[in-house]
Amino acid sequence: MRVGISLFMLLTLPCLLSLPFLNAQSPPAAGISARSLDALLQDYAFMAFIRPRTGVPYDGQVPSKLKGIKVSALRLRSGSLRTRGVPSYKEFQIPTGVVEQPYVERLVLVYHNLGNWSEQFYPLPGYSYLTPVLGLLAYSAANLSATELPELDIRASDKPVLMKFPDVKPTPFGSIAKCVYFDLHGSVQFDKLSDENACSTSQQGHFSIVVESNAPSPAPAAGAGEENGVKKNNSRVWIIVGSLVGGVVLLIILALLVAKVRKSKRGMKIQQMEWAADNSSDTLQMTSIGGTKAPLAVGTRTRPTIEDDYIP
Ligand SMILES: *[C@@H]1O[C@H](CO)[C@@H](O)[C@H](O)[C@H]1NC(C)=O
Ligand SMILES: *[C@@H]1O[C@H](CO)[C@@H](O)[C@H](O)[C@H]1NC(C)=O
Repeated sequence: MRVGISLFMLLTLPCLLSLPFLNAQSPPAAGISARSLDALLQDYAFMAFIRPRTGVPYDGQVPSKLKGIKVSALRLRSGSLRTRGVPSYKEFQIPTGVVEQPYVERLVLVYHNLGNWSEQFYPLPGYSYLTPVLGLLAYSAANLSATELPELDIRASDKPVLMKFPDVKPTPFGSIAKCVYFDLHGSVQFDKLSDENACSTSQQGHFSIVVESNAPSPAPAAGAGEENGVKKNNSRVWIIVGSLVGGVVLLIILALLVAKVRKSKRGMKIQQMEWAADNSSDTLQMTSIGGTKAPLAVGTRTRPTIEDDYIP
């Protein structure tokens, strides 16, 4: 019976464990990486330009499969960006002194608001977003029909670029909200959040506000699954893992109990036998040999020799 239970557990455990992870490993709904998204959004942002006026932001349209993402484009002379900045471009406040590398005469600042797609494209295990992920990326404005443009490298040399997040979800009690910054190469940095829900940066990239989530970080088995939305599945995973562990412990306890009952039954049987033997001394005489009782037949030819100090 115990072999049966272990076999059953061995067979079902991996299946049960892999269920939620299989679910999590499905690619993001749009099936594209964060960097491919940047390239796509550059294209959609530039498409918003029809006879664009310099210094005016234009909102772009994203395809329906990316519904929920907002994109805008702002064309500027690089001299104007450096000497005047952009006091307000969506959530961003660009100070004077921002310069691009390599130099271009005109550039386009593309704005992203990833909305409900933030976690899909910028998964951050162990953290939850309090605001959508925003992006600010710079491209050359030399050819407004160009696609797959490389980003320019922009740096705030004087004061940092500020972003003020209007709708920040309330920070859970006991948690500390932090600014998070993703550069274009995929590295992540955390920074202090200012009193008025503002973050600052000296470079382009993607930005948001996060808190450490109380949920335990995903099991290493989740590996590739962390890419997209494991956090949502986390509670489910932990419920399943928890009940599995509970079940296993219960089964072990049960097995131990069964073993104990069997053992005590056997003990009872022996006792009964001994008792029966003790009470039928007229047929068999009991004697002690080294701690155990053994029947001793009277008058047999070969009497067992009792060795008092026999040590087995
Ligand atoms: C975001 O919301 C839109 C509807 O506004 C929906 O079509 C889209 O599937 C959502 N995206 C994700 C990743 O949930
Ligand atoms: C602009 O880019 C488009 C698409 O890549 C290309 O077909 C076109 O020739 C370019 N125009 C100029 C002036 O470079």
